Amino acid sequence: MDKRHLLAAAVAATFAAGGALAAPPDWSKVPAKKITAFYPGASPMEWIMKGTEHGGARALKKGETCASCHDEEAADMGKKMVSGQKIEPTPPKGKAAAIPVQVQAANDGQNLYLRFTWKQPAASGGAKQDADNQVKLAFMLEDNKVEMANLAGCWQTCHEDSRTMPGAKDDKKTKYVAGGSVAGGKFYDLVQWKMKGKPTDGHVAESRVMEGGSALVSADGKKNGDEWSVVFTRKLAGGNGDIALASGKVYNFGFAIHDDWATGRFHHVSLGYTLGIDAKADINAAK
Ligand code: HEC
Repeated sequence: MDKRHLLAAAVAATFAAGGALAAPPDWSKVPAKKITAFYPGASPMEWIMKGTEHGGARALKKGETCASCHDEEAADMGKKMVSGQKIEPTPPKGKAAAIPVQVQAANDGQNLYLRFTWKQPAASGGAKQDADNQVKLAFMLEDNKVEMANLAGCWQTCHEDSRTMPGAKDDKKTKYVAGGSVAGGKFYDLVQWKMKGKPTDGHVAESRVMEGGSALVSADGKKNGDEWSVVFTRKLAGGNGDIALASGKVYNFGFAIHDDWATGRFHHVSLGYTLGIDAKADINAAK
């Protein structure tokens, strides 16, 4: 770099450091990755890992990711489960099988910005489980400490004894990580935007906690015609139940949309992907 460019870069850096207000980037300039969230039926980790029932169990144990087998066929998988053809004892009639989502990410050295855009599927007309929210969107981040989180994404928190699972006995039990602990770094950071009410900043360790985080700056959703876009601003700095994000590093990432007034497991979920901070990954949050 010659002197003139060095100076320009220094001025730009000063501006970035001095500009106290977090501002999302110009999204029209940020590349988008299409990720299909699909209706997962009742497919907890226990089902996934039971070799007799799921064709992928053996490959997973050898280190293959869910996405390596299923990324391209996610919409077809959703169809099998939403229709009750597979692992769904109570098929939710009329619900979308899958929701294609555009995911964009960026960072400015202070904050991570994440944007999710998708078309609102038709309403099923079925019972409203969450009467307040037609739509909620959550994402999880994990720092390569939970076993298999790099292969299975959010599935590693999804278990057969969690509430709303067929046959679950405890209606308070939600997601958890086996052997999870915030102090030990074995947890998923969890953030959720809701149509109504405040966003939540929590985590999943021994159990799911929908509060206590301090990294989330804002979560804003709007609907333009039939298209939703939800933008999260999240400090790179970590905290209690918040993963610290560092430039050059890659984290495990997945998200879920509770569409059609859904609660619990009746959501649409992504497989596990990677999010890089200035680093090559499925999604790169670049400067
Ligand atoms: C080596 C490839 C492979 C991997 C890795 C794999 N699967 Fe599968 N999966 C399959 C195959 C093949 C089927 C269909 C036949 C069956 O049920 O065994 C399947 C079926 C499924 C189904 C039922 C819907 C359907 O289309 O039949 C779900 C849900 C599923 N997988 C989720 C996952 C998740 C989540 C992971 C990661 C934790 C994963 N799979 C990893 C190969 C794989």
